[in-house]
Amino acid sequence: MSLKVLVVGSGGREHAIAWKISQSPQLAKLYCLPGNPGTAQIATNIPAGVGDFEAIASAVSAHGIDLVVVGPENPLVDGLTNFLKGRFPQLMVVGPGREEAQLEGSKDFAKDFMSRHGIPTAAYRTFSGATLAAARDFLKTLQPPYVLKADGLAAGKGVVILDNYANACAELEEMFSGKFGAASSKVVIEQFLSGIEVSVFVLTDGKDYLILPEAKDYKRIGDGDTGLNTGGMGAVSPVPFADKAFMDKVEERIVKPTIAGLKADGIDYKGFIFIGLMNCGGDPYVIEYNVRMGDPETESVMTRISSDLLCHLQAAAKGELAGQKIEISPEAAVTVVMVSGGYPGSYAKGYPISGLEEAQAAGATVFHMGTKAAEEGVVTSGGRVLAVVANAADIVKAGEKAYAAASKISFKDAYNRTDVTKDLLKYL
Ligand code: AMP
Ligand code: GLY
Repeated sequence: MSLKVLVVGSGGREHAIAWKISQSPQLAKLYCLPGNPGTAQIATNIPAGVGDFEAIASAVSAHGIDLVVVGPENPLVDGLTNFLKGRFPQLMVVGPGREEAQLEGSKDFAKDFMSRHGIPTAAYRTFSGATLAAARDFLKTLQPPYVLKADGLAAGKGVVILDNYANACAELEEMFSGKFGAASSKVVIEQFLSGIEVSVFVLTDGKDYLILPEAKDYKRIGDGDTGLNTGGMGAVSPVPFADKAFMDKVEERIVKPTIAGLKADGIDYKGFIFIGLMNCGGDPYVIEYNVRMGDPETESVMTRISSDLLCHLQAAAKGELAGQKIEISPEAAVTVVMVSGGYPGSYAKGYPISGLEEAQAAGATVFHMGTKAAEEGVVTSGGRVLAVVANAADIVKAGEKAYAAASKISFKDAYNRTDVTKDLLKYL
């Protein structure tokens, strides 16, 4: 079957998903809404916001779209899938509906789901302003550091970790007073887990699943994991400590009970599940679920899938994943994110970018994250600007290749971490 596909979103994640779909022999035509200058090279961009459901429906009907892939979480949590399925019952949509998206949209919902289905995660309790005194008492039963999480979506900023009791109580009061708006009217307080994190990605039709390549993300702005949190400064796949024994535990203890839990709860979930895990002494614990792919992990992950992603997406949307097999390249993928100077604080936009072709000639794949087409060519238009991805026999060689390619690219005040892969070398 020849498919017309629409990818919703505008970041590096969506560029990477579109890039992989564009290689499918089953693709008739590819659209991105709104897309970016990178997706413009492989798809037709449709200008509209990801929250403009009417515009998305118009695009579906104007272009005879067969399958929609929703990249970011906000439209999913806001019910884009329900809206599209209501308008176009035959449309295939990869991305869960509003209720299912609560796995990411409400930390309390996710923790309750995990505890009911026996999925390993940090011990927790949920409080509101009305139970502040009980929340303070619960904190006393825990050892520092204290982990406080706004229940709702808070643009990745809703988790605060504090190392003493007084600060934790003060933070709690700020959260209940609207620090993250309605998102922090409920707060999950949980046990601190120490270990190293890994991102595991699953594509499911609600009954069966495929496990995509795992990846490790680099969250802090500075080398050696210092400084402020960011959307992600780099990604490595495969992850050396996530060996077969560890990934078998992930599948048995986490993926299988998660899918079985969705089924048991009558949750019809069709889409990606991104499981943020902590490896605590060889045992996996769930830190969080996301109902979408990770960014920049996707940029590494997509380059390692050697089977036909569009075929898998179609099967997931139709509830026919049983019998599908994903093929994964043994080559490693390393992503280095180039950001605007000042990010994650304030930064300037509109600087011309040079060297994109030279980076590709150096063997990298470059995905656009925050760029814009201007008269003078492609210019910066976001904090995270470009994801430079290289593939090679192992993560060391892929890392060297990614950094060599990134060095060809320049724009004013460009910054990138210089240590992506370094923390993983001890596991090789
Ligand atoms: P999240 O927004 O849920 O991804 O959380 C942000 C980050 O906080 C995670 O990536 C972890 O690094 C950290 N984190 C969240 N929960 C815990 C926990 N229970 N123990 C230790 N670190 C945590
Ligand atoms: N890189 C982490 C995320 O996409 O949430």
